[in-house]
Amino acid sequence: MNFASDNVWGVAEPVMAALRDANEGAAGAYGGDDLTRDLEVRFGEIFECDVSMYLVPTGTAANALAAAAYCPPYGMLFCHDESHIYFDECGASEFYTGGAKLMPIASDGGIIDPDVFADIVKIHMTNPGHCSTPAMFSLTQATEFGRVYAPGQIAALTAIARDNGLATHMDGARFANALVSVGCSPAEMTWKAGIDALSFGATKNGVMGADALLFFDGKPHEGLASRLMRGGLLMSKSRFLAAQLIAYLADNLWLDLAKQANGTAKKLADGLSRSNCARLVWPVSANEIFAVLPVDRHEKLKAAGAIYHPWMTAGPSREKATGADEILVRLVTSPSTPENSVDEFLAILAG
Ligand SMILES: Cc1ncc(COP(=O)(O)O)c(C=O)c1O
Repeated sequence: MNFASDNVWGVAEPVMAALRDANEGAAGAYGGDDLTRDLEVRFGEIFECDVSMYLVPTGTAANALAAAAYCPPYGMLFCHDESHIYFDECGASEFYTGGAKLMPIASDGGIIDPDVFADIVKIHMTNPGHCSTPAMFSLTQATEFGRVYAPGQIAALTAIARDNGLATHMDGARFANALVSVGCSPAEMTWKAGIDALSFGATKNGVMGADALLFFDGKPHEGLASRLMRGGLLMSKSRFLAAQLIAYLADNLWLDLAKQANGTAKKLADGLSRSNCARLVWPVSANEIFAVLPVDRHEKLKAAGAIYHPWMTAGPSREKATGADEILVRLVTSPSTPENSVDEFLAILAG
């Protein structure tokens, strides 16, 4: 019964096989190999546009490099108040931009209200040269709370960003989970909705360790390759990153894996809703569940070996969360989460 994170599970077999295949013979180093070239073409096909691609070992690196591409040291990056980029990356974006300011926006489970965003941008436009210069907007899809934006909601936010001269970024650490949940195309979810750059996550969805920073804006982003090297992020044997992602994208594996993880989350969420003792804080749209449990059931689950994280959340979301003798917890599923661990969890919860 491990619902701690999608990071705790292993690697999908086709990805492992692709790593073994890539292990044959010699290939160009530092991205100068055929697999890397093929992958960039494949991303272009999947997103139906020209894409420029930077392979990275972590989602944090993708986010921070995107920030570096768009935000000068005196710039401001708007993101939601509990976003990974703001809360969980140890200042990587501040570091890679050379000191840009991250401006948190109040959200409901990571979903930003366009009116709130428009107001906060306006406030920071009023004192140029004194206030950090608004330069970039980042949203997370699926959010850190398992919620998803429809393309129209994304477009409403990116329109405000564009009207104010901001570049737009999507943290897609769980992009596939969001995509299969919404049921649109990768293009509709991103550049057609006004997104300039995407941190394309794969590691949480069955890859060993390979994410991609994708640009749809057609700009050269001079210096980004140097930043990759300077940051120690340019892998010499980067063919192994490309091999993982080629296998991930082949035969719709990435979408099948995400459907599996989301399906398991739905099963667990449905069971929690029916349990008469747990309640969901937000609708479950992807592979993360935030639920309020009675403390005594939580202790029973823990004693039975269930692994998951108690959660803290700030801002307006808090009122939705815990009462006395209750605890807010996060439960995450992955493509490898065994179905019977959901049954076991629900049986213990039911007492
Ligand atoms: C929404 C989101 N973005 C980015 C990341 C960063 O990924 P990594 O741990 O690979 O740096 C995570 C990791 O949990 C995440 O949840």
